[in-house]
Amino acid sequence: MNGIDEMTTVLEPSPLPDFVETKYVKDITSRALSYIKAGFPVHFRGPSGTGKTTLAMHLASKIERPVVMIHGDEEFSTSDLVGGQQGYRFRKVIDRFVSRVLKVEEDMVKRWVDNRLTVACKYGFTLIYDEFTRSRPEANNILLSILQEKMMDLPVGRGGEEPYLRVDPDFTAIFTSNPEEYAGVHRSQDALRDRMITLDLDHFDYDTEVAVTRAKSKLSKHDVEMIVNIVRGLRESGKCEFAPTVRGCIMIAKTLKVQNLTPSKANGAFMRMCQDILASETSRVGSKTNQERVKEIVTELVAKELGMGKTVDVPEDTAEDTVGISTADSEKEDKCERKEIESLAGVSG
Ligand SMILES: Nc1ncnc2c1ncn2[C@@H]1O[C@H](COP(=O)(O)OP(=O)(O)OP(=O)(O)O)[C@@H](O)[C@H]1O
Ligand SMILES: [Mg+2]
Repeated sequence: MNGIDEMTTVLEPSPLPDFVETKYVKDITSRALSYIKAGFPVHFRGPSGTGKTTLAMHLASKIERPVVMIHGDEEFSTSDLVGGQQGYRFRKVIDRFVSRVLKVEEDMVKRWVDNRLTVACKYGFTLIYDEFTRSRPEANNILLSILQEKMMDLPVGRGGEEPYLRVDPDFTAIFTSNPEEYAGVHRSQDALRDRMITLDLDHFDYDTEVAVTRAKSKLSKHDVEMIVNIVRGLRESGKCEFAPTVRGCIMIAKTLKVQNLTPSKANGAFMRMCQDILASETSRVGSKTNQERVKEIVTELVAKELGMGKTVDVPEDTAEDTVGISTADSEKEDKCERKEIESLAGVSG
């Protein structure tokens, strides 16, 4: 695509592998698509793990225009979204033949770098602005006129062109956000929210949660149902600082799968795995009281699923052997997933 700076990553609108389309998913997608077709941006809002980012990618693939993705960030300024005058441009050439030789070529041409938002507006691409309320509200002001007047104000210094850009009619925007009580989230401006149609998402229904966990882990339906029952039981107990999400189901299912285990075959190790993963997922700072409470509930739920009555022994040796998943690991998994989504969607420059 000529004229698009190589710094801007444009994604192909291809369907996501492992994507499951249950009735719940189809229903939300078709509602969202009808608002998009009527010319309105759509905003998926909901707690962590309710499928917002995945749905946004799926919706974008239905729109069948190239996709530009932005992740909201506290450090963003308007010029990060729009582009800016880059005084210097460094090009690093790593000489692969002679190790430890690093040539730095510097080309000092002042140039305008169109950033993602500008590219999307100019070429009529689909913008996914993931977690947009993580950016400061003033950085997002630029969106007000884009969404309403279909005009984008350009900062001075772009050279030779008009101070605004007419937004291509094919431009569409999909937003996602976590509720305001989440850490690191700003209140969204009323004016911005008023320009989009917000769909509030909650945790998946049972069938979708089972289908997603199965698709991600390739574990049997029976085993996945046991895991989902445990996670949903804990969620519905209302006793957690954070409700466990489908990610908890996926982590447990995948961990079992790589060890070639099933809940009943794994015995005490399954109990320990559920406790580790679910206690880590449901607390922010890992407070002892939260952990104890969660472990107690998980113990009962696992015992019920395994049909073992209330007492299940966690043998000391298996307890040690089990893969411990810390919050750091789950964050890593999260990042991997985001990368996975981007790369599976087919990245092209
Ligand atoms: N329809 C689906 N098919 C397959 N997997 C899905 C589907 N929806 C969600 N998932 C999986 O569920 C997990 C959570 O989904 P996602 O990351 O989209 O949630 P989110 O609401 O964006 O969460 P966060 O607020 O934490 O970013 C991911 O592992 C994702 O791959
Ligand atoms: Mg997300």
